[in-house]
Amino acid sequence: MSPARRYPQTGVFYRALDRELPLAARGEGCWIVDDLGRRYLDACGGAYVANLGHGVPEIADAVAEQMRRVAYVNGTAFTNEPAEALAAELRGLNPRGLEFAYFLSSGSEAVEAALKLARQHWVESGKPAKHKIIARSPGYHGNTLLALSASAREHYKKLYGPWLAPVTMIPAPYPYRCAPDSPAMTAQALEDAIRKEGAETVAAFIAEPVGGSSTGGSVPPEDYYRRVREICDRHEVLFIADEVLCGSGRTGRWAAIEHFGATPDIMTLGKGLSGGYVPLSAVVASCKVIDPIAKGSGAFKHAQTFSHSPAICAAGLAAVRYIQKNKLVDRCAKMGAVLHRKLDSLRELPHVGDVRGLGLLAGIEFVADKKTKAPFPRARKFAEAFVSAAMDAGLVVWPNVGQADGENGDLVMVAPPFIVTESEIDEIVARFKLAHAKTLEVLHAPR
Ligand SMILES: Cc1ncc(COP(=O)(O)O)c(C=O)c1O
Repeated sequence: MSPARRYPQTGVFYRALDRELPLAARGEGCWIVDDLGRRYLDACGGAYVANLGHGVPEIADAVAEQMRRVAYVNGTAFTNEPAEALAAELRGLNPRGLEFAYFLSSGSEAVEAALKLARQHWVESGKPAKHKIIARSPGYHGNTLLALSASAREHYKKLYGPWLAPVTMIPAPYPYRCAPDSPAMTAQALEDAIRKEGAETVAAFIAEPVGGSSTGGSVPPEDYYRRVREICDRHEVLFIADEVLCGSGRTGRWAAIEHFGATPDIMTLGKGLSGGYVPLSAVVASCKVIDPIAKGSGAFKHAQTFSHSPAICAAGLAAVRYIQKNKLVDRCAKMGAVLHRKLDSLRELPHVGDVRGLGLLAGIEFVADKKTKAPFPRARKFAEAFVSAAMDAGLVVWPNVGQADGENGDLVMVAPPFIVTESEIDEIVARFKLAHAKTLEVLHAPR
């Protein structure tokens, strides 16, 4: 028996205060082994992070080597080799024009910085009235206060409402629940919102190019972002693509926005950018965005102690080089096709309403009634019961709730590391089916 590991028996408090967590003793490729020797197939690389698997020596060695040479300098006094080299690598990978990188540690920080950059751009371009942000619902951009303001997660936002900034929400393209000609799917909702707010007051539109957990991997129509680009250009609104989750190769292109033939003004990266070896994120932007600041005040007014830190950039550099050397973006496209072919069999399950996604990013939406698409009432906690049954079956998936109508809706994400094999995908599907059956048993058990 391992010792009890939950609050208040240990000195750590995690998000879940009401349950015991297994202790991760080691990682092997896509697998986590706990201290009791139980093996878990990590079908989401934690939170879409451990994309390259555990224990890659090139990345661990690169960080250790950098730490021996220069562990930390501050970006107000020095630049450093890994930051310069990583920016140069990203220049070759990012959509054309997104040439300048500002490194941070988390996706929320990158989103905060991207929104601030957009605001400062307009102030220094002589348009100080431009301050409003437009975002989408469902959608998620992080948990610091401005990033949370731009997110549509009511269960997080409720408590902190008095501290949040006003952000205009438009409906996200969500093909399972939206008509193809609805304003959400055609981007007309963006045009309408900008006109309603007054274009002269709108600074930026932020969106996840391919939906993450919030819309369960929903993929917008092919021409959606070309329309977004045209609307943003016409109204002088900066388009921020939040690629924290869907970027860094997962969808089979380096940036998910590349599938749609449009280029954002600012893009955020995070999560898998370092393969999870250190916390690393980035804001990348074009000179069109930065020039007015460089020629104006000369300083971006956003400071964080660990921005551009050599050790985190060394991990990012090694991870990005590893992705390229092993052609892992192509592998995401190839294995993504295998994943979706095999996940398709889940549609037969009694409560699987939809299976969707792109590349190695998939969402499985559960419904109470497949014909009407009616979600389970939130009180049933279907997603939570499924995640718990999956853990018992040795499968780790990522849940989301509330996407159907803001309160109800259950889905889980399957977004395995880029190194996943076909037999591991078979294992994911088999364990998923077991977990689904177990969830039904639990939910239908007499209470
Ligand atoms: C699209 C997107 N943006 C931003 C974030 C915030 O990233 P972090 O949790 O690293 O702060 C997330 C996290 O899930 C995300 O999915």
